[in-house]
Amino acid sequence: MNARDIVNVEVEVLLSAIRERYGWDFYYYKRASLKRRIATFLHENNLKHVSELIPLIMWDKEIFEHLIHSLSVPVTEMYRDPSFFNALRNEVVPILKTYPFIKVWHAGCASGEEAYSMAILLQEEGLLPRSRLYATDINDDGLKKAEQGVYQLDDIKEYQNNYHKSGGKGDLLDYFRISSNKAIINTSLKHNVRFSNHNLIRDSSFGTMNIIFCRNVYIYFEPELQDRVTQLFLDSLAPGGFICLGSKESIHIENYPHELEVFNERARIYRKLYQ
Ligand SMILES: C[S@@+](CC[C@H](N)C(=O)[O-])C[C@H]1O[C@@H](n2cnc3c(N)ncnc32)[C@H](O)[C@@H]1O
Repeated sequence: MNARDIVNVEVEVLLSAIRERYGWDFYYYKRASLKRRIATFLHENNLKHVSELIPLIMWDKEIFEHLIHSLSVPVTEMYRDPSFFNALRNEVVPILKTYPFIKVWHAGCASGEEAYSMAILLQEEGLLPRSRLYATDINDDGLKKAEQGVYQLDDIKEYQNNYHKSGGKGDLLDYFRISSNKAIINTSLKHNVRFSNHNLIRDSSFGTMNIIFCRNVYIYFEPELQDRVTQLFLDSLAPGGFICLGSKESIHIENYPHELEVFNERARIYRKLYQ
């Protein structure tokens, strides 16, 4: 089945079934992307129609969890968009250096690559000992992988290029212990990183952060949900704190004239105003 063959009403019924049965709310996710994911899921599970999928997810938790995994798009990499990390290092880090303690939130951290990229960057800038990174997601499989910090060696080798373009100062492999074809993140980098389940739609803020990453997550949300999440971030930021989005995402700054300013437009970095 092709995404175009899925009719809206089927998606709505599926989403209400998920919400009623499990409390997960995908209602404000962009329909086109949801339809593509659902079509792929149907194909992979030899199902023809969404109506066949609904009774399966109602009674089979494993299938339901696979579906959630597919719908949440846990795709990521280290130093994704190196120019963003470069701007972060050169323009934001000098400001963070003036703070006595730095709190970072990676919202939608997938399997942890972004949080460990930041931990390495902070380490190189001498800031990691006074930083605490909170990395959250709705996808427990991704969080488990993130906590383990075990990646494919070939993937880490590929990220070397990103790392250097982002201004990385050493050899990315030095931050891992290599065991056959796996790369295991150094324990010293894990000390200050906490992974936990947090749903941006349902859960409240959990602290006063200095910088929030929510990269390549807004892109899946309808504008109404993007605005709700932006408000959640404003409530979770210290004055002068930063919000970092993905390269194809933005905040309608005109909706927040007294709260936010654009810090670096190209890098999609925003800053909460001191009021
Ligand atoms: C494409 S990944 C982005 C990973 C990383 N931030 C990056 O840019 O490489 C999107 C992540 O957002 C998470 N996500 C989707 N909806 C979410 C929600 N309501 N609350 C928290 N995380 C969510 C997904 O589970 C997925 O891991």
